[in-house]
Amino acid sequence: MAGTCVVGLQWGDEAKGKIVDLLGDQFDLVVRYNGGANAGHTVVVNGKTFKLSLLPTGVIRSNVTSVIGNGVVVYPPRFLEEVDQLAKVGLDVSKSLVVSSHAHVIFPYHMEEERLAENNTEGKIGTTGRGIGPCYQDKVGRRFAVRLGELLRPDHFRERLAQIVPFKNRLMLAFANGHPAGYKTFEPNALADEYLGYAEQLRPYIADTPRMLHDAVAAGKRILFEAAQGSLLDVDHGTYPYVTSSSSLPSGIWGGSGVPAKHITRTIGVVKAYTSRVGQGPFPTELDDGPQGIGERIRRIGREYGTVTGRPRRTGWLDMLTLRYTAALAGADEITLMLLDVLSGIPELKLCVAYEIDGERRTHFPSDAFDLERCKPVYETMPGWTEDITAVRTLAALPHAARRYIDRVAELVGLPVSVVSVGPDREQTIRV
Ligand code: GDP
Ligand code: IMO
Ligand code: MG
Repeated sequence: MAGTCVVGLQWGDEAKGKIVDLLGDQFDLVVRYNGGANAGHTVVVNGKTFKLSLLPTGVIRSNVTSVIGNGVVVYPPRFLEEVDQLAKVGLDVSKSLVVSSHAHVIFPYHMEEERLAENNTEGKIGTTGRGIGPCYQDKVGRRFAVRLGELLRPDHFRERLAQIVPFKNRLMLAFANGHPAGYKTFEPNALADEYLGYAEQLRPYIADTPRMLHDAVAAGKRILFEAAQGSLLDVDHGTYPYVTSSSSLPSGIWGGSGVPAKHITRTIGVVKAYTSRVGQGPFPTELDDGPQGIGERIRRIGREYGTVTGRPRRTGWLDMLTLRYTAALAGADEITLMLLDVLSGIPELKLCVAYEIDGERRTHFPSDAFDLERCKPVYETMPGWTEDITAVRTLAALPHAARRYIDRVAELVGLPVSVVSVGPDREQTIRV
């Protein structure tokens, strides 16, 4: 069995979805192992756009089995909505999609908890509001968590909510103390009725996915693991506390799916040709250069607005220190360079090759977000190109300056570039 992992090496939105879709025909299963509907993956196939948040990108390929692993946090209405949206465009996933009975369930009180925490405290993270953090907190805390499989045992589930919801209501009150926007409380029985309704629709999809994956491994099936978020948002190794609450690095695969690391034989690091970030946290190469600046130009041409929240993404130059750090953490074997077309027409491009901190030059990434906050980027400049490259399909047909940019990135990361992407469509791809 040869397992492959597709992982983002920046702060998310590197176009992982496009790479998973491109490779999809070489795999029997596509597995998500972390995060939830905080992810937003847009894939364009022959001009048709698919937007996925909770479901694995594999669902677009009808011959692939898509698995939502135990490490994912599931908001049932979102699951059903995405299944419906796919049905509307003629994609029936009823036979090809499974979700782990051990995945944890997101409830509306998780979102309310997150809203109040984000509005009420000093430590705003700029989260997506999907209840991700509070649900993972409950998972690790154990007492107030519910796994998907528990929804299939109605009496037990009702009892669980009768214990959990009053506690959550008291928590809301404590959080909201004096909060001008007020707070919501929840009624255990009404919530149980609502979720038991979802459970009946979810029942056919719920399975013992670790066992299923072990069988797939034993049968020599090919498995693609699709990371959500980016390595710099990983809860352990990202720019903590400005991270998500799960392990987005390949280290999350073992825990989040049950497939041991020894089966992962190829790791593909997905890299955007520049950098973007949504939410709070340090970003040394950010281009905060006004409405006529390059940062805004990249945002406009790259359509850098969050898929989940619609928030404008912060944009900036490519940072080689972060890439070397995340490529090492991920164990990347190769990188794919995405959205290169967005840089067309910028006269001079910059690559961050060092930081200056307290008058000292550093060439390694400080994993501490508070140190990173104080780092000033040191750039190497490269000539840009003016040609539209969205119709180019070979490296040789790219402008010389674009080839130099790709080569320099590969050299500075120390990994080969296996794919260059020049537009959102599956076809707008150069395989190196
Ligand atoms: P993901 O979360 O890593 O899957 O990435 P997102 O889907 O959030 O963001 C990537 C965005 O860029 C999507 O809207 C894609 O359709 C789009 N995209 C992917 N590759 C390219 C490319 O090479 N050029 C351009 N212009 N857009 C791209
Ligand atoms: P994909 O899979 C970009 C960011 C949020 C916030 C932080 C924590 O599309 O690459 P959370 O709601 O997870 O508690 O928010 O993480 N974030 C993402 N940024 N792409 C994502 O996913 C993200 N998922 C979470 O903006 O800064
Ligand atoms: Mg995204």
